[in-house]
Amino acid sequence: MAAFLTWLTKWQTGVTWVDADHREITAMLNRIVDVNRRAPTQDPATAGREVLVVLDALIERTRRHIHAEEAFLREVRPPGYDAHRCEHALQLAEFTDLRRALEEDGAPDLNPETLQAFKRWFFNHVIVEDRDYAEYRDDEPEAAPTAPSPDWAD
Ligand SMILES: [Fe+2]
Ligand SMILES: [Fe+2]
Repeated sequence: MAAFLTWLTKWQTGVTWVDADHREITAMLNRIVDVNRRAPTQDPATAGREVLVVLDALIERTRRHIHAEEAFLREVRPPGYDAHRCEHALQLAEFTDLRRALEEDGAPDLNPETLQAFKRWFFNHVIVEDRDYAEYRDDEPEAAPTAPSPDWAD
């Protein structure tokens, strides 16, 4: 079966660590879709746990990416910085809500609307919006900056 998302080089921002993170998030989205596709063939409790495990990994990886990205954006302060941070916060809140709903329902599968929402987020935010700030970089950092504190907000 075709991958949910196939990475294209035209999606690159030109910032190596950002692109590496985005590729990793692409792989995690594909993983969650694969696990979700298998869910109907499994015992519901097992499938439900598996979906939550991969969703947790996606949330954690996205959170770390956002920490690093915001540390970078704080330095360059591109236009739209505040709106970009709001988008980050909203997306993490949506992921967290989704996780809570799945756990409460005990439903193992993500519905098609949710999967389309993942895709929309990925294209609109990760690919389109993140590419805009790449032109403001001075020197590319050697590695992703570490999060300044456990609390990702300022
Ligand atoms: Fe990003
Ligand atoms: Fe971003």
